[in-house]
Amino acid sequence: MTYAHSKRINHTTLHPTILPLNLATTVIGHTVYQYERVGSTNDVIKDYDLDDNAEGLVVVTEEQVAGRGRSGRGWIAPPKSNLLFSLLLRPTWLSPQQAFMLTMLAGVALCEAIEQTASLSAALKWPNDLMLPVATASGPALRKAAGILSEMDLSNDVIKRVIMGIGVNVSWSPTGVVDGRDLSHVATSVNAAAAQSVDRYALLGAFLTSFDTHYIALRQGAKDSLFQSWRNRLTTLGQTVTVKTSRRDIEGVAEEVDSDGSLLLRDTQGDLHTITAGDVNA
Ligand code: BTN
Repeated sequence: MTYAHSKRINHTTLHPTILPLNLATTVIGHTVYQYERVGSTNDVIKDYDLDDNAEGLVVVTEEQVAGRGRSGRGWIAPPKSNLLFSLLLRPTWLSPQQAFMLTMLAGVALCEAIEQTASLSAALKWPNDLMLPVATASGPALRKAAGILSEMDLSNDVIKRVIMGIGVNVSWSPTGVVDGRDLSHVATSVNAAAAQSVDRYALLGAFLTSFDTHYIALRQGAKDSLFQSWRNRLTTLGQTVTVKTSRRDIEGVAEEVDSDGSLLLRDTQGDLHTITAGDVNA
């Protein structure tokens, strides 16, 4: 399946339904718009005429024809197979330097939601790929089942809005070569890992509830506990890895993460690198 990433749909001509998830949340998910088909849910949120009360708005779609992943890659899924949604946040109380805490928060909330709905233990690969355990011919392995794309707008060094886009492979995962990368031994889905069929909207509700709890705690200052929850789930620490950054590939041991989310990598010469963005391969 190939999609043009630049393909754009005029969302204002489409009519969403309101999904009654009936969440007992404070900020997140008071309105959940469900579309049949959009370009990218991140773009749908941008296309709304947003006002200050719109924090917590969720856009979910049954099909996405121009889904975007990190590092300029695409994100694909057949219609009605996976969970594809975006969340609008207005964390004006967080400094732009601490914005990565929201991605940490989304990673932790995703792990908790999958653990609750699919009875699986979930982990994170730095910076925020959600990994699930699978049995392979060569033994147990961890494979990616979800990804997070967060996009931030600033105004005078204050966060104006953050759009948190999340794709979870629920009943389908890519195989073969996608965007020039062979994903056959890289990706999985929640259903494959759990050996059961998980309801996509139950998973969405669990995620939004968990996100809401952590978001309110973070707003009240619980930065350390969120950082520790994220760090404890990282499979990357202690591993020998290659990190692909926008400039070059660096091989070394993933020694630690710092509180703003950077990866501290000790290379084969013994030099320590502080990496803020990249793809890790073990
Ligand atoms: C990654 O590359 O790991 C991040 C993938 C994020 C995909 C989701 S699907 C819903 C939302 N809309 C998009 O266009 N991308 C995100």
